[in-house]
Amino acid sequence: MRSDSTAVVTGGGRGIGQAIAVELAKDGADVVLAGIDEGGMEETVSLIESEGQRAIDQYTDLKHYESVQSSIDTALEEFESIDILVNNAGIAGPTASCEEVSVEEWDDTIDVNLRGPFFACKEVLPVMKAQQYGRIVNVASVTGKRPLEQRTPYAATKMGLIGFTRTLAAEVGEYNINVNAICPGSVDGPRIRRVFEQKAESTGQSYEDVRQAAESESPRGELVEREDIAELAAFLCSDESERITGQDLNVSAGKVMY
Ligand SMILES: NC(=O)c1ccc[n+]([C@@H]2O[C@H](COP(=O)([O-])OP(=O)(O)OC[C@H]3O[C@@H](n4cnc5c(N)ncnc54)[C@H](O)[C@@H]3O)[C@@H](O)[C@H]2O)c1
Repeated sequence: MRSDSTAVVTGGGRGIGQAIAVELAKDGADVVLAGIDEGGMEETVSLIESEGQRAIDQYTDLKHYESVQSSIDTALEEFESIDILVNNAGIAGPTASCEEVSVEEWDDTIDVNLRGPFFACKEVLPVMKAQQYGRIVNVASVTGKRPLEQRTPYAATKMGLIGFTRTLAAEVGEYNINVNAICPGSVDGPRIRRVFEQKAESTGQSYEDVRQAAESESPRGELVEREDIAELAAFLCSDESERITGQDLNVSAGKVMY
């Protein structure tokens, strides 16, 4: 990572985003947390400060372009540059058959998972182009690569995010801006437990059966940890990964191999 880097991490108040924000701080970045989870972001600020780096939390609702604009403006006022953008925030969307998904649920999922990363990139790209340096990491999903029944809105956004990643990488490579996607498999934690609960409810299976089915999809028979994602994100923002761009890299304990 280049020295004195500033990173913007969306949804850094908990889960994968919190782990990424802390990992980037360990590598020497100051961090701007952009999300709606104010209590969680305060906690992340403390974790980052205890790594000796600066951090601010900015209330940012990715559904609203003006909210993203204002947070990026504040980030620039505070830190002068933005070197890293991690589009991490995302919602699971509904678990339902396609015809049962409401228009509002569809729009909500697209708004957070796809329009949000576009808004953030739209705001940081002029800064990164001017400084001839940038690292963008989009947190997609293995569901961006293969079907996940009952989750059409989510799958559409994550597959869309991979297309966005590749196209943007092609567009901005000449400015020394790398754009990559990480595709996590099921990450252990509260979010995936909620997803398993919903699936159990909608399919009539038990929670344990749903969880076991997810684990058995991995050749290692396990889910992944949020730190696995964070370490790859930090690598993609480091000097060691300079010639890796436009990729969608799985961290799925082998669950998906393409
Ligand atoms: N957990 C998994 O198993 C898993 C698997 C594959 C991909 N992912 C992806 O990883 C990313 C992080 O997931 P997580 O497991 O940490 O989820 P999480 O629910 O714990 O965290 C999501 C974050 O996004 C934020 N967020 C939600 N709506 C927002 C909005 N409108 N504006 C700003 N921020 C908003 C939340 O406040 C939260 O901080 C997501 O994009 C998710 O799709 C997760």
